Amino acid sequence: MSTIFPKWTNALPTLFAGVAVLGLATAVGGVWYYFTPKFWRVGYMPTQPGGGFNHQIHAGRLGMDCRYCHSHVEDSAEANIPTVSTCNGCHAEGRLSAFTASEAHRSKTAFIREAYAKDQSIEWRRVHKVPDYVRNFPHHAHVAAGISCLSCHGNIARMPVVWHVEPLSMSWCLDCHRDPAPHLVERDKVTRLFEVEDWFRQDEARRREIGQRFLDERRLGGPENCGACHY
Ligand code: HEC
Ligand code: HEC
Ligand code: HEC
Ligand code: HEC
Ligand code: HEC
Repeated sequence: MSTIFPKWTNALPTLFAGVAVLGLATAVGGVWYYFTPKFWRVGYMPTQPGGGFNHQIHAGRLGMDCRYCHSHVEDSAEANIPTVSTCNGCHAEGRLSAFTASEAHRSKTAFIREAYAKDQSIEWRRVHKVPDYVRNFPHHAHVAAGISCLSCHGNIARMPVVWHVEPLSMSWCLDCHRDPAPHLVERDKVTRLFEVEDWFRQDEARRREIGQRFLDERRLGGPENCGACHY
């Protein structure tokens, strides 16, 4: 009797099963990797030059307003990093006498005075950056809309070293554009991160209700058409 299926075909089901398992594993792995926030830079925390800059001390403990240093957040499409002279205003030789008695403080801040004396800038490593093909992210429009720095950068005033809290992915932008209400706060509170943090811990329904009122009053509309962000 002739065999319709040669003997080797007995191995086929196993082979198919093997390929299927492998394919599935690859797909799961791929999705896992590409859709996980980690891929979108969450947690990125580069080592900064010199002794670094500690937001927990300056913005947290000393209570300095973000705009003292990031002076263009309200009027420029790009936020700015302060120049050495902003730091030198406090850290110049002879200033901050309450602290300079400590040798540890002097050595940790020496890189500022050195850079200032040589008229060099400090090469801070950038943490947040959208890709170049995202042609339009007007930073100031978001701050003016009454979105706190906290919503997009986390509580910087708690960070000894800045790290990347949000993914900055396209779906992250769009999720908020579709439903910005829970992120809206009183405009004069945008940089008061501890107050906003407390507010965000409040009951969800109330946060949404007040946010919705701000949204209606301010007539905001985050765009969802491709051209708004990509041209
Ligand atoms: C005394 C000056 C000063 C103050 C005040 C200050 N910053 Fe900064 N900030 C810096 C410097 C310098 C850097 C660059 C070094 C770094 O990334 O740590 C920076 C970096 C950052 C970055 C990361 C920038 C990037 O590369 O992506 C964010 C976000 C930020 N600051 C937000 C804030 C917020 C929010 C506040 C207020 C709560 C604040 N800063 C207050 C000086 C300041
Ligand atoms: C308004 C004044 C002021 C400005 C402006 C300022 N600082 Fe400071 N900074 C301080 C004070 C006060 C301390 C000491 C705080 C303490 O030790 O409790 C300090 C501490 C430091 C330290 C030591 C941190 C540590 O771990 O002990 C570093 C480094 C530093 N500042 C860097 C900077 C840099 C960089 C800038 C500019 C982006 C800057 N500071 C701007 C007031 C200022
Ligand atoms: C709607 C979200 C959003 C809000 C609100 C927001 N930021 Fe940003 N911020 C971003 C994004 C996204 C970037 C990266 C922009 C880019 O690549 O052009 C950024 C970049 C920055 C940078 C880096 C600029 C540079 O040139 O290195 C600083 C500093 C900064 N933001 C500070 C602040 C401060 C301070 C506030 C509050 C007053 C704030 N941001 C509010 C999303 C936001
Ligand atoms: C937490 C909320 C939030 C996030 C996150 C956010 N946006 Fe927005 N965005 C808004 C709101 C609210 C407006 C409307 C502002 C207005 O109407 O004045 C807006 C407006 C805009 C506009 C139009 C500005 C104008 O002048 O009309 C652009 C472009 C934009 N966003 C790009 C982005 C991009 C790109 C990202 C992600 C990298 C992003 N946004 C993330 C809330 C957000
Ligand atoms: C609110 C702003 C915004 C709008 C609207 C928007 N995008 Fe994006 N898009 C982004 C951002 C931000 C990224 C970058 C994500 C990242 O960090 O890789 C991106 C990435 C992309 C990418 C690269 C994808 C990838 O995974 O690398 C493509 C393709 C793209 N967008 C197409 C579109 C199309 C098509 C539309 C309209 C349906 C659109 N975008 C609308 C903000 C936007």
